[in-house]
Amino acid sequence: MLFSTLLLWVGTVAALSTKGLYDLIERRLPGHANDFSFSLDDGYRSGGHDTRFLNDTYSISTTENGTIAITGNSLSGLATGLHRYLTDFARVDIHWFIGSRLDQAAKHLPRPKTTTSGSSIVPWRYHFNTVTFSYTAAFWTWEDWELELDWMALRGINLPLAWVGAEKLLVEVFQEMGLSDTKITSFLSGPAFQAWNRFGNVQDSWGGELPSSWISSQFDLQKKILVRMTDLGMVPILPAFTGFVPRAFPAVYPNASVINGSAWEGFDADYTNVTFLEPFDPLFAKMQELYIHKQVEAYGNITRFWTLDQHNENDPQSGDLSYLKNTTLNTWKGLKAADPSAVWVMQGWLFYSNIDFWTEERVKAYLSGVEKDEDMLVLDLFSESQPQWQRTKGYFGKPWIWCQLHNYGANMGLYGQVENITVDAIASLHSETPPIGFGLTPEGQEGNEIVYDLLLAQAWDASPISTKKYFQDWVQARYGPAKVPRDLETAWDILRTSVYNNMNLTSNAVPKSILELSPNITGLVNRVGHHPTALNYAPDTLIVAWKHYLAASHSSPALWANPAYQHDAVDITRQVLANRFLSLYTDAITAYHTFNASNSPTVYATLLEKKDEMLTVLHTLDALLSTLPQFSLSTWLNSAQSWAGNDTAEAAFFDYDARNQITWWGPGGEIADYASKGWGGLVGGYYAPRWEVFFEYVTVAGKWNDTAVKGALKAFESGWQTQGEGGKLNEEKVGGVREVVKRVVGLVG
Ligand SMILES: *[C@@H]1O[C@H](CO)[C@@H](O)[C@H](O)[C@H]1NC(C)=O
Ligand SMILES: *[C@@H]1O[C@H](CO)[C@@H](O)[C@H](O)[C@H]1NC(C)=O
Ligand SMILES: *[C@@H]1O[C@H](CO)[C@@H](O)[C@H](O)[C@H]1NC(C)=O
Ligand SMILES: *[C@@H]1O[C@H](CO)[C@@H](O)[C@H](O)[C@H]1NC(C)=O
Ligand SMILES: *[C@@H]1O[C@H](CO)[C@@H](O)[C@H](O)[C@H]1NC(C)=O
Ligand SMILES: *[C@@H]1O[C@H](CO)[C@@H](O)[C@H](O)[C@H]1NC(C)=O
Ligand SMILES: *[C@@H]1O[C@H](CO)[C@@H](O)[C@H](O)[C@H]1NC(C)=O
Ligand SMILES: *[C@@H]1O[C@H](CO)[C@@H](O)[C@H](O)[C@H]1NC(C)=O
Ligand SMILES: *[C@@H]1O[C@H](CO)[C@@H](O)[C@H](O)[C@H]1NC(C)=O
Ligand SMILES: *[C@@H]1O[C@H](CO)[C@@H](O)[C@H](O)[C@H]1NC(C)=O
Ligand SMILES: *[C@@H]1O[C@H](CO)[C@@H](O)[C@H](O)[C@H]1NC(C)=O
Ligand SMILES: *[C@@H]1O[C@H](CO)[C@@H](O)[C@H](O)[C@H]1NC(C)=O
Repeated sequence: MLFSTLLLWVGTVAALSTKGLYDLIERRLPGHANDFSFSLDDGYRSGGHDTRFLNDTYSISTTENGTIAITGNSLSGLATGLHRYLTDFARVDIHWFIGSRLDQAAKHLPRPKTTTSGSSIVPWRYHFNTVTFSYTAAFWTWEDWELELDWMALRGINLPLAWVGAEKLLVEVFQEMGLSDTKITSFLSGPAFQAWNRFGNVQDSWGGELPSSWISSQFDLQKKILVRMTDLGMVPILPAFTGFVPRAFPAVYPNASVINGSAWEGFDADYTNVTFLEPFDPLFAKMQELYIHKQVEAYGNITRFWTLDQHNENDPQSGDLSYLKNTTLNTWKGLKAADPSAVWVMQGWLFYSNIDFWTEERVKAYLSGVEKDEDMLVLDLFSESQPQWQRTKGYFGKPWIWCQLHNYGANMGLYGQVENITVDAIASLHSETPPIGFGLTPEGQEGNEIVYDLLLAQAWDASPISTKKYFQDWVQARYGPAKVPRDLETAWDILRTSVYNNMNLTSNAVPKSILELSPNITGLVNRVGHHPTALNYAPDTLIVAWKHYLAASHSSPALWANPAYQHDAVDITRQVLANRFLSLYTDAITAYHTFNASNSPTVYATLLEKKDEMLTVLHTLDALLSTLPQFSLSTWLNSAQSWAGNDTAEAAFFDYDARNQITWWGPGGEIADYASKGWGGLVGGYYAPRWEVFFEYVTVAGKWNDTAVKGALKAFESGWQTQGEGGKLNEEKVGGVREVVKRVVGLVG
C-alpha cells in the first residue's frame, strides 16, 4: 500500500515539475538551460487524472535579467512555447530522420523583444496508430525514442499511445491464469507483427518464436519511455486487456465463454481466428484487473487512458444490437472495476473499414454499452479522407478526436491534403459535436513530415492556417538557421499546391511507386484503395519543384552539408525517379502489346530500350537511396538484429521478421507489398531482380503465362525472405548525395 502511494506521489510530482523541459534543452542545446526559465502559472496543470480538459497556453518573453521566460498553464503548453521560440526566433527545429538541428542555433540565442502568446484550441493532441509501433518503431532503441519524444513534446502532443513492451505483463497475467509458457508463446507474434497480435488479427509467429529476451528488453524500454513522456507533460495511453487469449485457454477453463474470431486477410487458421474471451464472462474482468494493476505497480498511477480494440478489421460474431451492447457494457464494467477513473480509448477505424457491417444503428448500440459518455474516447482515425464522425453523429455523444491517417503501411510517396487538414479540422470544431483533440494516426512515420506538423500547428490556431505562409516558415526552420534561398521557398510552394494538395479523394492516401509492386503487364497503374499508386498531381510539376530545390544549392552550396537539405534532396529525387519509372513502364507495356501481336523487330528494339531504361532507373534509385542511412534497408535490418545481442539464431529470426513485414507480410505472401518501401538495398536487391524476372517473359513474344510468371516471382521472393541478395547496405556508397543527384539530373533532364 505504501509502495503504490509512493508511486502515485511520484507520478503526480513529475507531472508538475518543469525539470523535463530543462533536461530537453540540455540534451539538444547543451549549455543553454540557464538561458531559459519555465514557469507554470496558476490554474490548469493537465495530467493523467485531471478531469478538467482545458486548452493549454504559453507565453514567451525576455525578462529584465535577459532570461528567455516561457510561462504557461501546463507542461505541454510550455513545451509548445519552447518550440515556437526555437522555430520563430532561433530558426531551428528537430525532425524525423534528420534529427535535432537545435544545436545549430546561434551561440547567443536571440532574445524576443515583445511577448508572444499562444493557446491551443483543443485540450488534446494525440499521436500514434497501434500499427505505427510495428511499421515504424518495431526495432527502435532508446535513442530513437528520445528523439521521437522530444519531437512530440515540442509539437504539443500530450496524449500519446504507449504500446511498447505490452507483452511482458500480459504474459504474467496468462501465467497466473494457469497457462503454460509454451501455450503462451505460441500465441505471441514476431517483433514486426505485434500490432496485429495486439489487435487480435493474428496469433503465433512464423519463422521463429518470440524470444523471452525480446519481451523483457521491450518492457525495460517502455519504463524509460513512460518516465520521459510524463516528464515532458504527456499522458500515456496504456494497453488494457482486450479479451484475446491463447488458443489453449479453453483447455484450462472449459466453461469459459470463448469464441474464435473471424479470419483476417486470408491467413491460415493457425495464425488467425484468434480466440476471444467474451467480456460477459467473469474471467474477463478478473484478467482486466490483473493486467491494469500490474501496470500501475510497474509504471505508477500515471494515466486513466486505456487503449482497447476488440473488432479492428474483425467483425463481431453477431450483429444483434443486444449482443453488441452487451460486449461493450461488460468490457466497460470490467475496465471500471480495475480502474474507477478509466477512460476507454478506441480506434474508430472499424467503422470505416468494415462499414457494411457497422451500420449506424449497430455503431449506436455498440457505443451505448459504455453508459457514461466521458468514459470513452473514440479516435476518428481517417478524418481527412473518410471521416465517420458525421454519420455517427459525433459518435453518439462520446468524446472523439479528429485524426489524420495519411498513409498505409509506411509507404513512401510525396503526398498530402493540406486543405482537408486545415479547413476540415476547423470546420469540425464548429459542428454540433466538436472533437476534443486533433491527432496523428499514420500507419507509419515515413516522410511528408510537413503535413503532420501542419495539423499539430492547427491545434493552436482557431482559423484555418494559411498554408502559403506556413510552408515558408516551415522551410526556414527546417533548413535554417541561415536565411534560406528563395528557390527553396519556391520549390516548397509548388509542392504545396501540387503533391501536398490532393482534393480528389478517390485516391486518398500516400501513393506507392509501381516499382515496389510485383511486376505485371496489367493492374499496376492508377490503383486506388489499399495499394494506391494513382498520382494526384502532374509529374511535370514535380520536376519544376525539384529543379528549384536543386537550384537553391547553386546560390548556397553549403546546403549540401545540411542534413535536412540532403534528406529532402534524396526524398524528392526518389519521387522524380519513381515517376520516371512509371512513364517508362507505360511505354514498355504499349510496346509489349504491339510486339506480342506483330513480332515486329523495330517494336522489339523499343521494348528492349524501355527495359534498359527501367533497369537503369532502378539501379540509379538504389544508389541514390543508399547514400543516407534513413533510406537504407540495412538500417531496418541492422536495428532488428541488434536486439538479438550475440544470439545468432535470434538475429536470423529478427532479420527474417523485418524482411517479411516489408515484402511478403505473412508466411506465404498474404499481404504482399503492402508495407513496401523506397529503400536502398531493397530497390536493388529485391524489386530490380523481380523486374528482371518479368522481362524474361515480356521480351519473348507469346511467352507470358500468368502461372509461370507467378511461380518464378514467388521462387525469388521466397528465397529473399531469409538472407537474400542485396539486404546489406553498400556502406561505401553512403555519402555523396550530391554526386548521385547529379547523375539523376543527367538521366531525367
Ligand atoms: C532571471 O529572471 C527569471 C525570471 O524572473 C528568474 O527565474 C531567473 O532565476 C533569473 N536569472 C538570473 C540569472 O538571475
Ligand atoms: C479551446 O479554444 C477554442 C478556440 O478558442 C474554444 O472554442 C474552446 O471552447 C476552448 N476549449 C475549452 C475546453 O476551453
Ligand atoms: C464446468 O461446468 C460444469 C457443469 O456446470 C461443472 O460440473 C464443472 O465443475 C465446471 N468446471 C469448471 C472447471 O469450472
Ligand atoms: C477454434 O479453432 C480451433 C482450431 O481450429 C478449434 O480447435 C477450436 O475448437 C475452435 N474453438 C471454437 C470455440 O470454435
Ligand atoms: C475462421 O474464421 C472464418 C470466418 O472469417 C471461418 O469461416 C472459419 O471457420 C474460422 N476458422 C476457425 C478455425 O475458427
Ligand atoms: C450478456 O450476455 C450474456 C450471454 O448471453 C448474458 O448471460 C448476460 O446476462 C448478458 N449481460 C447483460 C448485462 O446483458
Ligand atoms: C489512480 O489515481 C486516481 C486518483 O488520483 C484514482 O482515481 C485511480 O483509480 C487510480 N488508478 C488506479 C488504477 O488505481
Ligand atoms: C477535402 O477538401 C476538399 C476540398 O475542399 C473537399 O471537397 C472535400 O469534401 C474534403 N474532404 C473531406 C473528407 O472532408
Ligand atoms: C480522381 O482520381 C481518380 C483516381 O486516380 C481518377 O480516376 C479520376 O479521374 C480523378 N477525378 C478527377 C475529377 O480528376
Ligand atoms: C554473448 O554475450 C554474453 C555476455 O555479453 C556472453 O556471456 C556469452 O557467452 C555470449 N554468447 C555467445 C554465444 O557468444
Ligand atoms: C503455363 O505455365 C504453367 C506452369 O509453368 C504450365 O503448367 C502451363 O502449361 C503453362 N500454360 C501454357 C498455356 O503454356
Ligand atoms: C496480373 O494482374 C492480373 C489482374 O490483376 C491478375 O489476374 C494476374 O494474375 C496477375 N499476374 C501476375 C503474374 O501477377
